[in-house]
Amino acid sequence: MKTKFTVTDFKKYKKEGKKFSFVTAYDYTMASIINESNCEIILVGDSLGMVMLGYTSTTSVTMDDIIHHTKPVVKGAPDTFVISDMPFGSYNTSVEKAVENANRLIKETGCDCVKLEGGEEIIDTIKAIINGGIAVVGHIGLTPQRATQLGGFKVQGSTPESAKNLIETAVLLEKAGVIAIVLECVPSVVAKRITESVSIPVLGIGAGKYVDCQVLVTQDLLGMYNDFKPKFVKRFAQIRNEMIKGLNQFHDETLNGEFPTPEYSFNKEVELDRLY
Ligand code: KIV
Repeated sequence: MKTKFTVTDFKKYKKEGKKFSFVTAYDYTMASIINESNCEIILVGDSLGMVMLGYTSTTSVTMDDIIHHTKPVVKGAPDTFVISDMPFGSYNTSVEKAVENANRLIKETGCDCVKLEGGEEIIDTIKAIINGGIAVVGHIGLTPQRATQLGGFKVQGSTPESAKNLIETAVLLEKAGVIAIVLECVPSVVAKRITESVSIPVLGIGAGKYVDCQVLVTQDLLGMYNDFKPKFVKRFAQIRNEMIKGLNQFHDETLNGEFPTPEYSFNKEVELDRLY
């Protein structure tokens, strides 16, 4: 059994230069599989909109969706640190509403921490949630909830000005008290500079190898989700093919009568004559 990663491990790992990994989950079975793996952290990301609910973007995901999916993940992964994503619309109306929604995530799901996308524009919100006693992970670079404003799912920080802005935002987030920062889709050299500029871990997704931790969507890395594959996704397994193979074998054995054999049947003799 692994020892559960804690809030204090984020800084400790950074200080000791120790890498770690984190992946997504949205249901009990996947959470329990990840719990048996060596991955330290699970994110119940709003990517559940695409991966589990078939939406075309994350913006339709609601607080109820995230709560519904975080609860079984917390149950399935008792030895893994669980972060729950604050969905679009749950923290952009007022600071009070954001704190209320962060409280709901913690109280109703038992997750360890919440994650919010954005920088300076939500800094007061982040501070208010932290002041309320909740650990927060930031998320900068490509922030999918603002993809329309950003002009699509594009690499961020590719000009010196925007790179400088990202570095300053990371420093600002650290000062505000976040325990780590997700950095999505930025050039490796910029990610390296950001990683060197803060004393909290930078959790990279599409941010190259110089960050403190790598993040991927589980269904991407295991080869389950097929709608599209971002450049930064490496397939570490081909589970979709294995699943289709298993399903087809079940189908074929059903049709040709090979399944079920006595091994998979209840074989007790029953005197059916006495039924009448
Ligand atoms: O929702 C999500 O899965 C995320 C990761 C891509 C970091 O935010």
